[in-house]
Amino acid sequence: MCGIVGYLGSNKAAPVLLSKLRVLEYRGYDSAGLAVIESGRLNILKAVGKLSNLETLLQKERPTATVGIGHTRWATHGSPTDANAHPHVNHNGTLAVVHNGIIENYAELKTELQGKGYEFLSDTDTEVIVHLLSHELEKDKDILQAILRTVSQMAGAYALGIVSQTHPDRIFAVNHHYSLTVGVGDHESFLASDSAAVRQYTNKILRLAQSEVAEIKADSVRLFSFEGVENHREPISVEASAYKIDKEGYKHFLMKEIHEQPLVLRQTLSKYLVSPDKPVNFNVEDFSPELSGLYGVKMTDEEIRSIDRVQIVACGTAYHAGMVGKYVIEELCGIPVEVDIASEVRGRKLLGNNKTLTIAVSQSGETADTLAAIKDAIGNGSFTLGITNRSDSHLATLVQNLIVTECGIEVSVAATKTYAAQLVCFYLLGIYLAEIRGSITKERAKELKKGLNQVPALIELMLGREDAYRAESLKLADAQDVVFIGRGFNYPTALEGALKLKELSYIHASGYAAGELKHGPIAVLDSSVPVIAILVPGKVYEKTLSNAQESRARNARMVAVAVDGDEVAPKTFDYIFRIPVVDELLSPLVTVVPLQLMSYYIADYLGKDVDQPRNLAKSVTVE
Ligand code: M6R
Repeated sequence: MCGIVGYLGSNKAAPVLLSKLRVLEYRGYDSAGLAVIESGRLNILKAVGKLSNLETLLQKERPTATVGIGHTRWATHGSPTDANAHPHVNHNGTLAVVHNGIIENYAELKTELQGKGYEFLSDTDTEVIVHLLSHELEKDKDILQAILRTVSQMAGAYALGIVSQTHPDRIFAVNHHYSLTVGVGDHESFLASDSAAVRQYTNKILRLAQSEVAEIKADSVRLFSFEGVENHREPISVEASAYKIDKEGYKHFLMKEIHEQPLVLRQTLSKYLVSPDKPVNFNVEDFSPELSGLYGVKMTDEEIRSIDRVQIVACGTAYHAGMVGKYVIEELCGIPVEVDIASEVRGRKLLGNNKTLTIAVSQSGETADTLAAIKDAIGNGSFTLGITNRSDSHLATLVQNLIVTECGIEVSVAATKTYAAQLVCFYLLGIYLAEIRGSITKERAKELKKGLNQVPALIELMLGREDAYRAESLKLADAQDVVFIGRGFNYPTALEGALKLKELSYIHASGYAAGELKHGPIAVLDSSVPVIAILVPGKVYEKTLSNAQESRARNARMVAVAVDGDEVAPKTFDYIFRIPVVDELLSPLVTVVPLQLMSYYIADYLGKDVDQPRNLAKSVTVE
């Protein structure tokens, strides 16, 4: 939610800031804006809507400033309007602030400031910061001290970028329980919420610690604690990386990313699984120096054997991956596993001790609720493990054990390839733990590893059936409500199918455990409501089929995801997304693919913004 950037050097700031905002647009696209110091005066340029609108404005205005900050917004306080767009400025337009996060006591601060005569022009919590800072600067002109006094009055978690007309040779960055990275270049400095937007320009970076202020000049960076003590840290060298975003001929990133699934699964599998005859190995040593020592599963075999409970925390699609993880780990290891929506851990006691393994799953590694939950787990003495696609994320630096999905950047807001890779990581982790604990036979472990290696080819086979999937999908495009049902390993698939359809097409959809339907939700069924059942041969096939028949008896339009050669399914279902035969335990990797495609086809057919659905952001950095 919201991305912050900054630049200071001898090049024009606006193009640099814009290119960094492009990297951060996944954090929100409600509005974007810049504050640059142009001929000694602060110039604010902002535009509601996507970054392309700001780009158009900049083409007209062409600012030549060489210092500035920028912002891309996901609205928290106040609707997406020009007045609420960042940067926000003080009463005389000499100070500008961009902000990511929430100021929890903003209402009290606003009342106090209004009492002192400050006029507010927006509904944001951010505007409080700029007026408060302005007020503190009136007491004495030392801007660093004024920033420190300002943050000492603010409650909440936040990251800030600050620029002042009276200090045109520097920008300030503040980090309080968020992520901010400073890039050190050759007589130039960079700032961004995501290190990817810094590594475009330099491989020398400094990550701000928690509760830290950075005074950034073109040739120096000074770091201070909130108490004003200078922290001396040298920049570290990381791999510089050009940020390539290319649809490679696809109409949308989403379709490209669905098609990348066989490749990313092969990459993730080949990293951790050399051969079905060998044990899974997470401790591969090809990682950036920043994370050396963290990467991999560092728990000893003895510690792994001592675990008597697993706790999984995650949000959204990652939560669904965690649910599959629960079924897999319980089945293979015989350890009880609980899965929590990370935001539901807030305000609650997260139980755990030195026999608990707490796993946080997060594509971005920056989801505020997931980070808060894993911090609770650290506090209760659990072992911690992160599964993320971003080895440079905040999550990666918090956990003792780290498994990285090898997906590359996922641009589309709706997660697809990273979900598949998270599932693969759970399968590998389940096998890994089971091998060490002796709860799986060699034969079953080998069979599963072979099965996993075959999954990419099964997905390729399904991608070859796109025309048939599209035709079936469009029959559902007129629906107002869709119900997804599944049992066991595919109950999470039902939830994920419903989430994909909702977020991409805006059609209301709900996922249920198939057996739960008759306990209430069945009341919504009539001939206008399609029911999509996930039906895979195995322990729960018959029961899922019975639940589907109960729905058919209520005249629902019946749709199945069913395997090739299933001749029973056509008797109950009006149409069928055919999938290849697959081991029930591994089936969530396969059953989800037609549902991803279906959501895509419907959304595209309805003319929705497939890659950037309304109201969403890829990385949810507020609680
Ligand atoms: O980065 P994370 O995996 O922590 O993100 C969690 C959710 O916000 C994310 O999965 C969200 O639900 C996606 N829009 C789903 O497609």
